[in-house]
Amino acid sequence: MCFKHFSGVVERGQGRGQELGFPTANLKIDPEALELSLGVYLGEVRWAGSPPFDALINYGLRPTFGEKKLSLELHIIDFSGDLYGKVLEVNIKARLRNEQRFEGRKELIRQIQADLKQAKKILGNVSG
Ligand SMILES: Cc1cc2nc3c(=O)[nH]c(=O)nc-3n(C[C@H](O)[C@H](O)[C@H](O)COP(=O)(O)O)c2cc1C
Repeated sequence: MCFKHFSGVVERGQGRGQELGFPTANLKIDPEALELSLGVYLGEVRWAGSPPFDALINYGLRPTFGEKKLSLELHIIDFSGDLYGKVLEVNIKARLRNEQRFEGRKELIRQIQADLKQAKKILGNVSG
């Protein structure tokens, strides 16, 4: 089911994800080496000593916030903690959608909630 595998070190983001209710780990990446099209994905992630976690991944420019820098962020489902400096190994499992520019934070949050629902459906866990 996996169609892409890569790893990267977690770097500091702007902390906005936490405010949105979807904290993210930002990966330091070389976009040329990555060869992934921009968009939102479902993946599986692990790091040294961790079990595998499911994750929602956004690879894009975050147009809602007028950002210009390409970033790869992971919202790790059912995990909270600081992963700064850790090497994350990521398996992309499914593509969910294109990245979009939303009118505001509320609309973005609603969409990420829908992404989470779709991810759980794909994983065969609709109850959550
Ligand atoms: C699953 C997921 C989907 C996202 N989709 C979008 C999107 O469609 N458009 C957008 O502008 N930002 C999107 N984002 C990025 C958020 O804007 C970003 O996580 C937030 O700005 C936090 O950035 P920071 O870690 O640099 O603080 C998405 C993030 C996640 C985790």
